[in-house]
Amino acid sequence: MQHLKTELTILGIETSCDETAAAVVSGAYQVRSDVVATQFDVHAKYGGVVPELASRAHIENLDGVIQEALAQAGATRGDIDAVAVTNRPGLLGCLLIGVTAAKTLALAWDKPLIAVNHVHAHAVSAAIDLDPDGPAPWPAVALVVSGGHTSLLLVRDPLSIELLGCAIDDAAGEAFDKVAMILGQGFPGGPVIERLARNGDPSACNFPRTMLARDSLDFSFSGLKTAVLYHVHGPGKTSGGLSRLSGRNVADIAASFQAAVVDVLVAKTTLAVEQTDVNTAVVGGGVAANTALRESLSAACDQRGVALHLAPVRYCTDNAVMVAALAAHYLRAGRSDPLSIEPRASA
Ligand code: KG4
Ligand code: ZN
Repeated sequence: MQHLKTELTILGIETSCDETAAAVVSGAYQVRSDVVATQFDVHAKYGGVVPELASRAHIENLDGVIQEALAQAGATRGDIDAVAVTNRPGLLGCLLIGVTAAKTLALAWDKPLIAVNHVHAHAVSAAIDLDPDGPAPWPAVALVVSGGHTSLLLVRDPLSIELLGCAIDDAAGEAFDKVAMILGQGFPGGPVIERLARNGDPSACNFPRTMLARDSLDFSFSGLKTAVLYHVHGPGKTSGGLSRLSGRNVADIAASFQAAVVDVLVAKTTLAVEQTDVNTAVVGGGVAANTALRESLSAACDQRGVALHLAPVRYCTDNAVMVAALAAHYLRAGRSDPLSIEPRASA
């Protein structure tokens, strides 16, 4: 499927987790605005996203974020062809805020409403900055790796996406966040672990690489997280060990943990490419911002002659550009949704 040529303009809204985001995107894909209000300060002291606090922050921020996105784009109601919103999967209370706002705007402005699957939006995010006149990257295996999801998908084209495998327990980003907590670091854990890992030895600690069944495209990171916990505190213990570690020890643990996650993600992505017989991989989601993962995937794909498109770092973490970008394909294909759509916690 080729990129979009027409200049449809979409207002995208994203509130599935802890980022309140709105964006205006025209055609394929002219990003006219991209506004994200993060909530790091709200959740930092809890070491993870607190759903009720996230919902409240969305209520407070969303109106202003939408207005800012329209203002930055120089767009008014008359310029918008459709309103798109993430309605699944995610934190139910959070999704409800975005879905309610999108329905209200679609009704008041008399525009089509388009519901978007958040994981599918991450899967197409690698295409946002590609040359619209160049070949489309589909079919591709998509690795979506974030705080809430670790999924492999077969993207035949943006309208036809099939789940190949996913996390059966903690998502990769969640493991980064929990390991950062274990190491007494801040939230979100991914960027902190990445920074610590730069000064550590990735082979210092022999952490497990859980592959599950031989051909499985599912992921499990909870064993790795527990291995880090016991490494820090001693076998079977959950506290008391951190103060005995030097800065060097902490950096080694961060580097070894990161290497274990990266090894699994790279192995499963290349396995998915082999199993589906496609020649392209695309990668998105917050953990896709990780330099070690980007470099390791690039090397593995180079070695196998597989084309790799990594989402631009600014579109890895949650944003509404990817929501509007995927919705543009739906709108062009004549797909929109009734005002009765509901938020859904699962896909
Ligand atoms: O895509 P995202 O913003 O939200 C979800 O859909 O979950 O991803 C957030 C996750 C967090 O767990 C965060 O720790 C992780 O992405 N993350 C990273 C990096 N930047 C963000 N993980 C590893 N390395 C990074 N540089
Ligand atoms: Zn996400």
